[in-house]
Amino acid sequence: KTIEWNAAMAEKAGYKHFMLKEIFEQPQAITNTVSGRINLESGVVNLPEVGLLPKDLEDIDRIFLVACGTSWHAALVAKYWIEEFARIPVEVDIASEFRYRTLLMNRRVLTVSISQSGETADTLAGIRIARKMGAKILTICNVVGSTMTREADGTIYTHAGPEIGVASTKAFISQLSALFLFSLYLGQIRGTIDGATGKRYGRALIDIATVVAEELPRLQEEIGSLVENYYDSRDFLFIGRGLNFPIALEGALKLKEISYIHAEGYASGELKHGPIALIDKDMPVLALVPRDKVYQKSISNVEEIKARQGRVIVIGTKGDDYLHNITDDVIYMPEVDEVVNPILYTVPAQLLSYQIAVKRGCDVDQPRNLAKSVTVE
Ligand code: G6P
Repeated sequence: KTIEWNAAMAEKAGYKHFMLKEIFEQPQAITNTVSGRINLESGVVNLPEVGLLPKDLEDIDRIFLVACGTSWHAALVAKYWIEEFARIPVEVDIASEFRYRTLLMNRRVLTVSISQSGETADTLAGIRIARKMGAKILTICNVVGSTMTREADGTIYTHAGPEIGVASTKAFISQLSALFLFSLYLGQIRGTIDGATGKRYGRALIDIATVVAEELPRLQEEIGSLVENYYDSRDFLFIGRGLNFPIALEGALKLKEISYIHAEGYASGELKHGPIALIDKDMPVLALVPRDKVYQKSISNVEEIKARQGRVIVIGTKGDDYLHNITDDVIYMPEVDEVVNPILYTVPAQLLSYQIAVKRGCDVDQPRNLAKSVTVE
């Protein structure tokens, strides 16, 4: 008897796909991104690599976040964090739009590119334009020495390690972690966040790595048995509010990328302005409903779907028994500080897409028509 073996299998370390391996590497990715950058006692963030003096950061009156694909979703989450922690207005742009629109830019604008590869053509063009217009440039990047890191004033590396799966997972989680740190840092420098709150948020970020590590095996199993009822869908809707709205977009993108199911992400409150017309038994909905400040609103959105015979998977907070009145398919997540919910809620959305794609027999690591890094326009 011979044992089947090849180099690719060895690199996957026993996982069936790189994507699954990378999903399971996420706790480590968060820790690598966060460690050494935050004081465990005080919660004070230190980011000398930003390449801008505290004085420059105090002078900023607007921030542009520029990115493509999954990285753009990280930018959308960061807008909520920066505006909440640092009180600076943030605009988020898809890089291919940013580069061709009229930009109102000056020395007091900080432009931040977010890119796993640091080579995406549109994002790179975006920061080149911003630089010409006098803006300061920061990049959040995973690849050391990439073009973007060489052209920016400063780089916050994400330290997720090499990502092989075309659909981004651990790089996204690391981007969120880095952006959370950066938002906290800005708030601390500008004095818009008090010591106790900064400490609480810092602790929440550090601890989320452990929470994700503890929940991963259970989620993998629970979601595995759930997908039986959903994997042959043609369409899917992902909904969320606030910080979790971008996670709905990211969940839908993951599903599209690797399973070829048509999926859309929506802000829950927008359902009534169109997509609710699509709801029937053939259009399942994944709803992100943590117990947060918009919880009641999110619940009524899900009830509107149920009232139209829609099928719903709800991801919510452990102990929230009410969710069982709405649907049988509830995935419970532990309660954490709501500012870090988007990091936590990303994980079940990734696993759902992964399990559906595997069940459909798709090439999870190398989806058709997609490239890991898009270096042409
Ligand atoms: C490609 C990849 C996506 C990625 C996007 C942006 O489309 O398939 O996973 O999110 O590029 O890449 P970047 O390297 O700039 O983050």
